[in-house]
Amino acid sequence: MIILAIETSCDETACAVILAQKNNVKILSNIVSSQVKLHAAWGGVVPNLAAREHLKNILPVIETALKEAHVPREKIDLLAVTEGPGLIPALLIGVNAAKTLAYVWQKPLLGIHHIEGHIYANFVDLNQKSAIKFPALCLVVSGGHTQLVHMKNHLDYKIVGETLDDAAGEAFDKVARILNIGYPGGPKVAQYAAEHKLKATDAESYKPTFPRPMLNKNNFDFSFSGLKTAVLYETKKNPEKISNEKYIAAVCHEFQQAVIDVLITKTLKAAEKFKPQSILLAGGVSANQELRQQLGQAIESNLPGAQYFTPELPLTGDNAAMIAAAAYYRFQNMPKTKQKLLQKNWLKISADANLKIK
Ligand code: KG4
Ligand code: ZN
Repeated sequence: MIILAIETSCDETACAVILAQKNNVKILSNIVSSQVKLHAAWGGVVPNLAAREHLKNILPVIETALKEAHVPREKIDLLAVTEGPGLIPALLIGVNAAKTLAYVWQKPLLGIHHIEGHIYANFVDLNQKSAIKFPALCLVVSGGHTQLVHMKNHLDYKIVGETLDDAAGEAFDKVARILNIGYPGGPKVAQYAAEHKLKATDAESYKPTFPRPMLNKNNFDFSFSGLKTAVLYETKKNPEKISNEKYIAAVCHEFQQAVIDVLITKTLKAAEKFKPQSILLAGGVSANQELRQQLGQAIESNLPGAQYFTPELPLTGDNAAMIAAAAYYRFQNMPKTKQKLLQKNWLKISADANLKIK
């Protein structure tokens, strides 16, 4: 079947067309129009500005996605859209565009949870041999979420641990702001951290130490707000160093490693309890190369029975191909009678900033 999906929950206007059959999802087009440059001036996403940009870009993005996929609209079997969670002014643009298309084109429409989309980015372009087996444990790390999700099967989610305050990506962004190295913070911090690693043999290099919050707590929850504050205190202690590139690199390296240590320890702990066959990494922070590698090594050494999956790099951040993939599995798992009802589903779909995954 051919699915067209739309995603506008934050600062990317995205539309994708996929061809999905026999549990295989192939991308025909995946267009993402990023607003990063616009929001960088403000140091974070401004919801109303994001909405304006989405409104300007949504139709051209949909048009480009259809053109690149070489799919006439008659061939589309299903439409999907991110319903939430996210910024309401931003979500509304995508949801209304999708509802309008569903009404005018008379197509079925599915609303998808943004985090469900991130998880299903792992199911895109998988070959049959490496099919993801259940139960699975997903480490979701994005700008808005840090969760450990236990999946007994497709679409069956139980959040077994989550952040009590800042999300991992949010902590990267805030630390980048403290260090004044730009927005979005994740890629910048990762870049500095990599530079520090390259020069780690430098005997003079400065080595701050930051806490690993919640590491020894007997649960699978996270907390990153204290870690961010530790970075702030560190820089306040050394105001003369704040513009020194080597110092920034050392701080970034230690901060990133603290986040990674906590994420890995908690994931391994949860895996000991839930004994997953597959471990999935998902969300914008899954683009972090050190996290991808170190989690992979930790799984190989400690959980030989579990297979490790990461999304392809272009699918780590917000995109619509992941929303289309999730929609495919939702549609597949519905009884035929329910599938038929989706024809008028546009009546029911609305944006929900705090949508819970279920
Ligand atoms: O999933 P995403 O694109 O949007 C949300 O759903 O929140 O995640 C965005 C987050 C941002 O906080 C960004 O700084 C972070 O992902 N990020 C990274 C990297 N690339 C993006 N964090 C660490 N390392 C990266 N390489
Ligand atoms: Zn996201």
